[in-house]
Amino acid sequence: MNENKNSGKSRSSFSGKLGYVLAVAGSAVGLGNIWRFPYLAAKYGGGIFLLVYLILMLTFGYALIVSETALGRMTKRSPVGAFQTFGKSASFRLGGWINAVIPMLIVPYYSVIGGWVTKYLFEYVQGKTAVLAEDNYFTSFIAEGFGAELWFLFFSLMVVVVLFAGVKHGIERVSKVMMPMLVILAVIVAIYSMTRPGAWEGVKYFLIPNLDNFSWMTVVAAMGQMFYSLSIAMGILYTYGSYMKKEVDIEASTTQVEIFDTAIAMLAGLMIIPAVFAFSGGDPDTLKAGPSLMFITIPKVFASMGFGTGAGILFFLLVLLAALTSAISLAESGVSTFEDQLGFSRRKSTVLMGVIIFLFGSASALGFGVLDFVSVLEMTILDFFDFLTNSLMMPIAALATCLLVTRVVGLDKIAKEVEQSSSFKRKRMYCLFMKYLAPICIVIILLSSIANVFGWISM
Ligand code: PFF
Repeated sequence: MNENKNSGKSRSSFSGKLGYVLAVAGSAVGLGNIWRFPYLAAKYGGGIFLLVYLILMLTFGYALIVSETALGRMTKRSPVGAFQTFGKSASFRLGGWINAVIPMLIVPYYSVIGGWVTKYLFEYVQGKTAVLAEDNYFTSFIAEGFGAELWFLFFSLMVVVVLFAGVKHGIERVSKVMMPMLVILAVIVAIYSMTRPGAWEGVKYFLIPNLDNFSWMTVVAAMGQMFYSLSIAMGILYTYGSYMKKEVDIEASTTQVEIFDTAIAMLAGLMIIPAVFAFSGGDPDTLKAGPSLMFITIPKVFASMGFGTGAGILFFLLVLLAALTSAISLAESGVSTFEDQLGFSRRKSTVLMGVIIFLFGSASALGFGVLDFVSVLEMTILDFFDFLTNSLMMPIAALATCLLVTRVVGLDKIAKEVEQSSSFKRKRMYCLFMKYLAPICIVIILLSSIANVFGWISM
């Protein structure tokens, strides 16, 4: 990043398109791709989930990324400031803040899962490959005593230390080396997993859409995942857009980020889902295992292959790095909101973010064990935070962006911002989505997920 001057204030900027794409991809590729996407795809219908996801991403997701990036670049502000550039009333404040609060609520439970990843890495380093593959290993690990809490604390400590040190640039450099390694390793593991006896059924389940597996929940889950994975509706893209130079092509870089992010998610799907079929014959209960899927099936794959320990170390190391870079950027966005909006010093902002991570993260980590009597709307605490942010808050944040673009800023102004660097090829689709389809879909999906959780409809 370089420093450049604008409106009298110095603001960092990415060196060019490659810098921008790598930075966004580095933040986008994380646990969402490797841990969350495969378990949702397994649970919500395999190929049909993938198809719905791809359609949503190329239309809806595309329109929202372009909007957030253009708004960030236009205003040179993070979300709260960007909304307030256009108006000072309570609704503008709310629109900005909801975008800004989401990452603060995600990073605590994200760090709990980061802790699980760290624990697995630690065990692989000690050669406990067979132990990790035992039935019930994972469930007892997260349920027993304070084990998961300690690993969560260890992971969040790494995040907070980096925030204090402010070595974001170093982290970015590391992730540029690690990301290609992650891709290569993912390809190897995916090929291995797909060639296990019985795995082919899993490949078909994941890639071939079957309408029988479709439910309305497929759409709700796919939309939540699209937001999560592409870092949409959490203020991040506003901030990154604000660092983007005028000559960088918004459309082309959006497309590249989408391709990269989806490729990693699909590779993760091809690693995990065929393995589920190979090791359980596609048993519906295993397919619906949810968040634990990566921690149960991947160790079984590694235990059954030569060099399993080496593969385990490498795999969990890379997942850990992907998780760390993402967690740092989520937390960083919280810290900068506190600095900019509350006028706190960097130190104070980091401490506050640390306290939020500690409180909400501990509740999530202990929710499977010591606090397992607590259930919110019949969900574990971690699932509840995931539901709250993805199914409720992100649609509202996305709706706020749609309304800001269509009602206040105007589609033309956004188009002009995009056209500063290139022609706006998908302008018609963009306008159609922002004006009609996106708000309608968001409202329907938001209402369905509320109705589902309260049991008014079953999906
Ligand atoms: N997109 C990330 C993932 O898929 O894991 C989650 C995330 C990380 C979102 C960092 C936003 C962010 F800044």
